[in-house]
Amino acid sequence: MSEAISEVGNRGRPQVGLIQTKTDGPVSIKTEQEITAWLIAYTQAHFNIAWDGTPASLADLGIDSLSGAELLGALEHWLAVSIPVEFLDRVTDSTGLGAALVALQQPSKAGLATASVFETFVNPFLARKLEQIRIDRSFVRAKGAFLYDEDGEAYLDFLAQYGAVPFGHHPEEIWSAVDALRADAEPVFAQPSLLVSAGRLAQRLIELAPPGLRYVTFTNSGAESVEAALKMARHATGRTRILSTKNAFHGKTFGALSATGKPDYQSHFGLPLAGFDHIEYGDATALESRIASHAGVYAAFIVEPIQGEGGVHVPPKGYLSAVEAICRRHGVVLIVDEVQTGLGRTGAMFACEYEGVRPDILLLSKALGGGVVPVGAVLSTQAVYSEKFALKHSSTFAGNALASRVALATLDRLTRNDGELLRHVQVEGARLKQRLEAMRARFPHLVSEIRGQGFMLGIRLCADRARWPENFLGIAAQEGELAQFVASYLLNVERVRFAPTLNRGDVLRVQPPLTATREHCDRAVDALERALGVLAARDTGTFFRALLRREAPGHVEIPNVSSAAEAISSVASHSPSHQSAGAASDEHRFGFLIHPLDAQSYADYDRSLNVLNAHELAEFAMSMDGLIDPVIGSSALIESPAGTKARGDFIMISHTAAQLRQLSQHEAIAVLAKGIRLARERGARIVGLGAYTSVVSGGGAQLLTPGIALTSGNSYTVAAGVEALDDVMRRTGRPWGTSAAAVIGAAGAIGSCMAVLLSRRAARVLLIGNPAHARETGRARLLAVARMIVKGALFAGEEAPFPGSVAAQIRHAAGRADVTARVSDVDDLIVQLEANCALVLTGDIRTLREADVALAATSFPGDVIDETLLQPGTIVCDISRPRSIPASIVKARPDVLVIDGGVIALPGSPRIGPYGIAPGTAFACMAETMLLALEGRFENVSIGNTLDVQEIARQQQLARKHGFTLAGLQSFGRPLAEAHWQRFIDLASHRTVQLA
Ligand SMILES: Cc1ncc(COP(=O)(O)O)c(C=O)c1O
Repeated sequence: MSEAISEVGNRGRPQVGLIQTKTDGPVSIKTEQEITAWLIAYTQAHFNIAWDGTPASLADLGIDSLSGAELLGALEHWLAVSIPVEFLDRVTDSTGLGAALVALQQPSKAGLATASVFETFVNPFLARKLEQIRIDRSFVRAKGAFLYDEDGEAYLDFLAQYGAVPFGHHPEEIWSAVDALRADAEPVFAQPSLLVSAGRLAQRLIELAPPGLRYVTFTNSGAESVEAALKMARHATGRTRILSTKNAFHGKTFGALSATGKPDYQSHFGLPLAGFDHIEYGDATALESRIASHAGVYAAFIVEPIQGEGGVHVPPKGYLSAVEAICRRHGVVLIVDEVQTGLGRTGAMFACEYEGVRPDILLLSKALGGGVVPVGAVLSTQAVYSEKFALKHSSTFAGNALASRVALATLDRLTRNDGELLRHVQVEGARLKQRLEAMRARFPHLVSEIRGQGFMLGIRLCADRARWPENFLGIAAQEGELAQFVASYLLNVERVRFAPTLNRGDVLRVQPPLTATREHCDRAVDALERALGVLAARDTGTFFRALLRREAPGHVEIPNVSSAAEAISSVASHSPSHQSAGAASDEHRFGFLIHPLDAQSYADYDRSLNVLNAHELAEFAMSMDGLIDPVIGSSALIESPAGTKARGDFIMISHTAAQLRQLSQHEAIAVLAKGIRLARERGARIVGLGAYTSVVSGGGAQLLTPGIALTSGNSYTVAAGVEALDDVMRRTGRPWGTSAAAVIGAAGAIGSCMAVLLSRRAARVLLIGNPAHARETGRARLLAVARMIVKGALFAGEEAPFPGSVAAQIRHAAGRADVTARVSDVDDLIVQLEANCALVLTGDIRTLREADVALAATSFPGDVIDETLLQPGTIVCDISRPRSIPASIVKARPDVLVIDGGVIALPGSPRIGPYGIAPGTAFACMAETMLLALEGRFENVSIGNTLDVQEIARQQQLARKHGFTLAGLQSFGRPLAEAHWQRFIDLASHRTVQLA
């Protein structure tokens, strides 16, 4: 057990995530005894199971997969840890569960040998994210404009720590200042006293700053500068409300984050705080009307001259000066945040100088530390500075001599030779921008805009998804996430370091050290041009292969663009999710959640990925794991010959089956709910749950929401499974009337329905129950199924049983014996059937060896059927999820056929999308969703583990009405390959000969 548990999350997601917002108090690690006591109480209260805590199998306690999922969710909540969904599969008995859960609460030591200490002890989540996008480098050395990794590989740094490395790495003059401090022995920390270097630095800053600024309050970071400024403004005005702009970035402490305009950074932490409002950036009229309509309310307006993290967003000319005038008029303190734009970044010492703006408060940080120390500064006017603030605000490290001396050296460097460095930034920045503009002209379909000034530039990437059909780069572009892939390519192939801006994933920032030379800039632009050249081929496979293999720049083979993706399919016209739903009023709308079953599914969708080898494809799947929110993979219109139409969106969840099962229940439900929300936004009134989205949500039971109907698609899946078995029997020339059919998991909801359907076909029906159940309970449960079979044969009467079938035998016997619906009559008949071996009720899986046909519908999490349990020629339909049969059986036993069920041919042959199925076909679970939509039956169907024979029959009727027919067979998630089928036929016919 411990071995199995330690595997969980070794690769893939970081292990043990404490889930925020889940518990009311601090989290303590629970002991095995506490866990057992909790489990006893929970199973009693929720499942009415009287269990005394002695080791027992969960299945034996009567906990099936649905109840198991519920239990898991409750455990997660109580323990406040993420428990992967697959966990229950691994834990088959209650003793193991307690021990495993104790282990899961301990911080992971797994992978210590290979993981970096940063990953292990600092931030495993960030480490994983960096690994996902392949920028997980450790830089061990740096000099000037270059960073060096552990292999000594050099990378040109065009990120410069968001502008905090103004003079390249390890600038001599800054280290000289540090050396001088050491030689002088000035105390680094000597608060409270009249700090010498801090005073000199403040004086220098005030000399350089726009007129009107009088005092400097020192801090240790950008966010801390923002916090100090907000306090100062509140005290100066006696007001509390703060106004800032949407998409702004001011840092991540409470106040600064409240002023930041990015809900995703705030909402998880109960932010923004009350009293923070956001208006459109660049819109002075919006500012005027907001302040005018809230007279005397706002203490301050905080604004960046250029929004850095907001995507290098430059406001219209005149904006900042208009802002100044408005703030003056209304007595609102103007805080200009130059943490990123300040100190030469845009080619001026301060960006607000371009419009001659005189802020009440000006904020600095980043470059002030010369690329060596963290430091920040708040420059303020006499009017906003006050005794209260001065005496009540402090910070231990603020104004320390080390930071002050470094900052002084920074200012010296910036002002040396009459501001030569700033002129360099102006000239080279303008030239760099020109080159980028020329590049934009070459790639108008990839670059929509070059933004910014000086060495603070941004490349806005774009891609019209209609031109990138069925392409993951197109999806990334549509989702505004393309810049990170381009940055990864540039790092791995071109060895140039770029990054997206924080708030906008579609903008690649170009932010070299101020000292970057023309050669550096040319090298960076050449690299960008080559990368865009590869991207323009719209070939995800080539792009990823190059970055995975770190191919040499210039050696990346670019596929011919015209042949790459010009064949824009019908999907393109209606795939982008931005597009309005656009359904005609006579069309019912549905959604369907899909996900890649495995890495190969990615290549089924985006065929360019077929250039990757299996290992690389797996790496690609790892990269995509949860990287993008649910998106529309394709759309389709289904037109029934009965006259109704249904339009649906196939919504892709970017997790493979294995990845979905690694998520905690909480995470899995959250991502699926997002998919359902998207379907709903598009007008869907029913959503079907494909593959593991149904499994991890307890057959949809945990996703039920008012206002939208759900279906797991299980009823039609069962119907199609039976039809598929009929088809195989027909095609192999085997008569049902002499065959034995086994149902594994016969006592379950799906198994019992299937047993009834099979009893109308097969000469013998073997009901195989859960061996974990005690003999008596096991038999009682199977007896109930046998009664369903008998009653179905005698009294349902819709479908005539096949001659020789168990149902036909029942009718025949009943005709002779005058059987009534009385239990005793029915039970007598069952005894007779058992005596004839027409019905077998057993908990012994070895009985399977007697079967010609088998159906597996267990809720047992793990392999139930192994290769030794099947006689040659056996046909198995496995509809259990997780599967009851390992995929390895395909190789081990080519003489048996394992199918998942049927693939359905749709009326009018619409193309559903590239999901490993032929055009014009759909999987049965999709088909059920379509049938319900065509019918306008917007109700929850086939939810949870409950299924009934009537619903299955109804689905069959609907299929007939709307022209849905069986198209082919499906095996292990894919249409059965012809070669596979032929091999089986050859071996199975050999068997028939042998038997004969
Ligand atoms: C404009 C602006 N303000 C404030 C901050 C926050 O600075 P820090 O990360 O040092 O807290 C940043 C950081 O990117 C910034 O760009």
